[in-house]
Amino acid sequence: MADALITIVLRNLNAILEGEVRPLVAVAGELKKLSSSFTAIQALIADAETQQIENKSVRDWLKKLKDVAYDVDDVLDEWRILHLTSGSHVSDDKVRACSFSPLLFFKKLKSQRRISNRIKTIRERLDEIGDEKIKYQFSEVRRVETHDHRKTTSLVDKSEIRGRSEDQDIVISKLLCREGKGIDVISLVGTGGIGKTTLAQLVYNDEKVKNHFTRRIWVCLTEDFSITGVTKMIMEDVTGSACNLSELNTLQTQLVERLQNELFLLVLDDVWNGDQTEWERMRLPLKCGKHGSKILVTTRSEKVARAVGANYIHNVIGLSNDECWLLFSSRAFAGRERDEYMELEDTGRQIVEKCKGVPLSVKTIGSVMQRKRTAEDWECILKSEIWAILEEAEKGIIPALLLSYYNLPIHLKQCFAYCSIFPKDYWIQKDTLVQLWMAQGFISTEKGSEVEEVGGDYFDDLLRHSFFQDIESDNKGNIIRCKLHYLVHDLARYIAESECRTADAGKVEPYSIRYRHSSLLSLDGPFHNLRSSRTLLLLGRSRIQKIPPKLFDHVKFLRALDLSGSHITQLPCSIAKLRHLRYLNLSRTDIVELPESMDSLCNLKSLKLNRCASLCNLPKGTSKLISLRHLEIEETQELKHTPQGIGRLSSLRTLSKFVVQDEDGCNIGELGNLDLLSGSLEIKNLEKVAREDEARKAELKKKQHLQTMILHCEEKTKDE
Ligand SMILES: Nc1ncnc2c1ncn2[C@@H]1O[C@H](COP(=O)(O)OP(=O)(O)O)[C@@H](O)[C@H]1O
Ligand SMILES: [Mg+2]
Repeated sequence: MADALITIVLRNLNAILEGEVRPLVAVAGELKKLSSSFTAIQALIADAETQQIENKSVRDWLKKLKDVAYDVDDVLDEWRILHLTSGSHVSDDKVRACSFSPLLFFKKLKSQRRISNRIKTIRERLDEIGDEKIKYQFSEVRRVETHDHRKTTSLVDKSEIRGRSEDQDIVISKLLCREGKGIDVISLVGTGGIGKTTLAQLVYNDEKVKNHFTRRIWVCLTEDFSITGVTKMIMEDVTGSACNLSELNTLQTQLVERLQNELFLLVLDDVWNGDQTEWERMRLPLKCGKHGSKILVTTRSEKVARAVGANYIHNVIGLSNDECWLLFSSRAFAGRERDEYMELEDTGRQIVEKCKGVPLSVKTIGSVMQRKRTAEDWECILKSEIWAILEEAEKGIIPALLLSYYNLPIHLKQCFAYCSIFPKDYWIQKDTLVQLWMAQGFISTEKGSEVEEVGGDYFDDLLRHSFFQDIESDNKGNIIRCKLHYLVHDLARYIAESECRTADAGKVEPYSIRYRHSSLLSLDGPFHNLRSSRTLLLLGRSRIQKIPPKLFDHVKFLRALDLSGSHITQLPCSIAKLRHLRYLNLSRTDIVELPESMDSLCNLKSLKLNRCASLCNLPKGTSKLISLRHLEIEETQELKHTPQGIGRLSSLRTLSKFVVQDEDGCNIGELGNLDLLSGSLEIKNLEKVAREDEARKAELKKKQHLQTMILHCEEKTKDE
């Protein structure tokens, strides 16, 4: 990840050095020195990253290097902010017009000096780190950037499943059998990635099974297991809607009502908890089902299978070499001619053997090989040390996955590792993920390309590398959301260990470590350890109602803040201190209005306020959010005004709703400038459009990227 970070820093450094507003000579000198020091170190990083798996001091060295790189990035961003807000950004008419003011000039000079001194201190730190590198004798590794944009492999679907028909038949016969008394439990046991969930899915969706049971319920447990939690999940699957009950007794009584007289199949995927008493309590309401109802449990542990009182345990073992080969070659050779891959077959079969029948490994490594063209590249993977290192390191990480990670292009590495911020089994929204990557500066674009589009390509690439699964698309085939396999999640977490803190219910990570990216379940202090935070996501339908007043004083370098789903009604004015903020998600909160001070968030790119049912006002100064690209305000019934001047935000790509007002309010002509709008736009109060020329100014026909436009007109006048 250090590699990717340094790439970003170098990009930002060069952007300033080559930018329109040149820094003072002294600053420029320091920046150039920084740039050359980073470039010298960058050549060695690939080697350092491999060595760190085994060598802790290399890991520490890399950490120090990253700390410096992050600090540089923050200072550079401050430089940008200074220049964005001081009015010297004249080429950009989005910024308020400026006139020369001596006071401003000296203030700016002072800030420049301050920044210059900070850069100098940082550069000295970097030089020290640079000197240390000699100790490790890293070798230079030539960076091979593969820009492979072939989109040949199809997404994972049934047609990709190999083998398992025997397993299916056995498990199905156990499910359909009506002998025995009570409700049978059947367990599928096997190591991670071997295909338990897949087998469970196959039988769950089998026609005979579908016809046999009157109700089928699927619940995925991952590591979190509380009786109340599981019962609630079962209820939610049964009713098909969110469940607000939190009292076990009520939950169980209601579940009994729902399941009485049903012949049900309940799948509990990935059970970890082997506590027999808890299990018995959880199972109590399930006894009301009809005779012949079944519970199918998948678990990695034999012990759990016994604890749940399984009447039958089915061991899920690895696929045969031939089945693995079929799975592997369908990925690795996709889009190639037979004579092109004949010579690779022998090496390929040896690689497949190393996967020990684990389909997750086979699939992942198959995706890696698809990008390797020569026999030499193939040999290199076969001989990689990683197959052996990890077995010793016993990190629980599958070698094939780690190899696949190391074979990702640099820009994808950090995008992938960042995903570890989400808890296990979390539905990751594609759009949101791309916006979070944007906020962190992970996406590099060339002139003329849209950062959102490039981010979408990154996502698709990770998907092709088999890092995402359970893809869900809308009816037009656009991907909406996905998940990570838990082993892939473990891998991401292993890589981002020192940078990302993941909120998993029941697990509290130590606050003593200064993580860069955190997902949290609550906002309790102490906050001083959040000082280096760049991402804060509040997850798990948080019940917090108020943001601790001091919070924003401690997280000044934050790039992304997500408080969605909480019960907050307002944001403190101190939000203005988050000048680096790019992403703010307040969707589904009880927020009523936003503080006016927000207009100083000149970096903000995404402001998400979807489904804020109480929201009545946006700040008057919204038009000063000059970097804003996405203003998402879907389903905000109480929001009856669009702030005046919004037409100046010519970078806007998303504006979910526009409310037309009378002459002295926001009139429809403001849409004229917003030619980049895409997705969906809802225009309300069209009856208030007073004159034809105003409507013409809106230039609606120029909005080529819009997919949907919804027009509302309350009451027609004669002219309309
Ligand atoms: N028989 C199979 N053929 C092809 N792919 C498979 C097969 N079994 C599993 N997979 C793939 O391997 C990965 C891991 O499988 P999964 O069922 O999630 O494993 P587990 O639940 O045992 O951890 C998934 O991406 C799945 O699509
Ligand atoms: Mg599973």
